Amino acid sequence: MTLLFNSDAERGQIFRQAFARELPDLPFSMDPAAVDPCDVRYLVTWTAPPDLSRYGNLEIVFSIGAGVDQFQIDRLPESLKLVRMVEDGIIRMMQEYVTFAVLALHRNLPAYLSQQKKQQWQGIPQTQAAGRTVGVLGLGALGSAVLDRLKPFGFVLSGWSRSRHEIEGVATYSGQDGLHDFLRDVDILVCLLPLTDETRGFLNSDLFGMLPIGASLVHTGRGPQLDHAALVEALDSGHLASAVVDVTDPEPLPPGHVFWSHPKIIITPHVASVTQAETAASAVIDNIKRHRAGLDPIGLVDRTRGY
Ligand code: NAP
Ligand code: GLV
Repeated sequence: MTLLFNSDAERGQIFRQAFARELPDLPFSMDPAAVDPCDVRYLVTWTAPPDLSRYGNLEIVFSIGAGVDQFQIDRLPESLKLVRMVEDGIIRMMQEYVTFAVLALHRNLPAYLSQQKKQQWQGIPQTQAAGRTVGVLGLGALGSAVLDRLKPFGFVLSGWSRSRHEIEGVATYSGQDGLHDFLRDVDILVCLLPLTDETRGFLNSDLFGMLPIGASLVHTGRGPQLDHAALVEALDSGHLASAVVDVTDPEPLPPGHVFWSHPKIIITPHVASVTQAETAASAVIDNIKRHRAGLDPIGLVDRTRGY
């Protein structure tokens, strides 16, 4: 039985030390050429390697990231479990990023950056947090944690997901039936949905049209969920006020793309949250212990839903 780590060497060394400490009976390798493929039971990787079929006894593939859209899930053998990364470090970073982005939009940062370029000293009337609704698309590990972190600021909070969730202090909505009611009051919309067939192109002109005039967007899901042209049109028409965009399609965002210079858009290069090696190693170790005890790993992907 071996765990094969197929990601960057720096993180791998931290994983190696954690495995030596916490699961010393499980051989750990970072070199596919040095292992007997039949011994590999666990694989930690960003995506499926082209020679995945050589690992005939593989039981679990652990995604090194929270998203699993980079795997062609329907091509993975039925018997194989795919597990997305649910770990404290990635959660903390996403809480930090979304808080930064929501506060930047709440406090009119895109407009102040434009004014700064023109050396214009001019205050903008400020809405109070209690007068703004922040709505989060996706109430999973990240969406629910982000809402929790936003609570002390006093925003009105809401969230939308596939199935109904109960979260104290948050108005929750679910399914297509709940989408319109959710969107109609949202002033700052945060996207933390996984990329699936259902969410591809989800942030489009129809959806923007359901938001109140003057709403803003924080996009931290996946690039292909956002219709770039629809966002620019909604911003230019004044229906939307501003956006913070961390993920685009393609990535990197090509030179000259309209987002780079749009005065109402703040771009970051897919850095909202990054897997942290220490906490990720603990999460994988805990999941292997769960698997050995006959329990499902935390973050097990449901193949029919695609996340
Ligand atoms: P998760 O725990 O699987 O949660 C996904 C949430 O989305 C769930 O609440 C789910 O509803 C909801 N959802 C999925 N499909 C839906 C649909 N068609 N309609 C309505 N709701 C739907 O995922 P997570 O760990 O929170 O991560 C979310 C995503 O964040 C990742 O997939 C990745 O794309 C993105 N991400 C981005 C960065 C970055 O740096 N920008 C970093 C990490 C992750 P149910 O609860 O009802 O199942
Ligand atoms: C990053 O985007 C991740 O999915 O972890």
